Amino acid sequence: MRKYLVIGNPIEHSLSPLLHNFWIKKYNINALYKKQLLEKNDVEKVISEVRASKLHGINVTVPFKNTVIPFLDKLSDTAQETQSVNTIFKSQNKLVGDNTDVYGFSEAIKLTNFNPVNKKALILGAGGVVPSVLLALRKMGVDQITLSNRTKEKAINIKKSFPFLKVINWGETIKSDLIINATSIGIKQNEEIKLDYTKLDGKLFYDVIYNPPKTKFLENAKKSGKKTENGKNMFIYQAMKAFQTWHGIRPEINEEVRDLIK
Ligand code: ATR
Repeated sequence: MRKYLVIGNPIEHSLSPLLHNFWIKKYNINALYKKQLLEKNDVEKVISEVRASKLHGINVTVPFKNTVIPFLDKLSDTAQETQSVNTIFKSQNKLVGDNTDVYGFSEAIKLTNFNPVNKKALILGAGGVVPSVLLALRKMGVDQITLSNRTKEKAINIKKSFPFLKVINWGETIKSDLIINATSIGIKQNEEIKLDYTKLDGKLFYDVIYNPPKTKFLENAKKSGKKTENGKNMFIYQAMKAFQTWHGIRPEINEEVRDLIK
């Protein structure tokens, strides 16, 4: 039986095992996908199990997407550009790190029918997911991207790798077509980003959070009559691409799959 893991800290909330095991069963694959809570010091050891073929693939989540890089032999272009790895596998005896979040985010935006070409985007937050969102937006032809983070130095640090970025202070706003919450605010009920939604002018408000499905950020945007979307499709599509890499099957995404992720 082939074994797969998602590693992170915390990891309890992860729905990756549910989704991957659903597809594993559906396509009659002899495999098992589990989650494992890790401390930073244990990351290298778990990755070495892929090298030893005791494990066949790893998904990586917060806060280890960058931590894993020194223990791999090769990075895909997207993993290299974002310095963020969420999918690990062995190919021709080399440990490869890939990033399927960029694909997941792009597909999610496409499904909203929002056309990002030549548009202005505002990203709230500067955490682990932001480089993937940035690369996806660039590839989709967004014209201007502004970053706002409580700890400004983190935003300035990201700008070193993505010089086209504009950085504004936390709490400031700028006229934008697409506003993305990439902070963790909203995972806990009642947490809220204080924003003047009327000033934002956004056509689409996107939250990378999918659990809860409607954060205050999305609720407030909706109240102001804006179009909103949560991170569920991003999650499903990043998983789909990892599954395809590992098993050679492109799993179907349908209502049954969407209903799994609540
Ligand atoms: P990490 O920063 O370790 O990569 P993350 O979950 O990927 O963790 O990112 C959390 C993001 O949410 C960060 O941008 C964080 O802002 P800071 O960089 O200032 O910490 C943001 N965040 C979390 N709680 C917040 C709060 N109460 N107010 C403002 N921003 C918050």
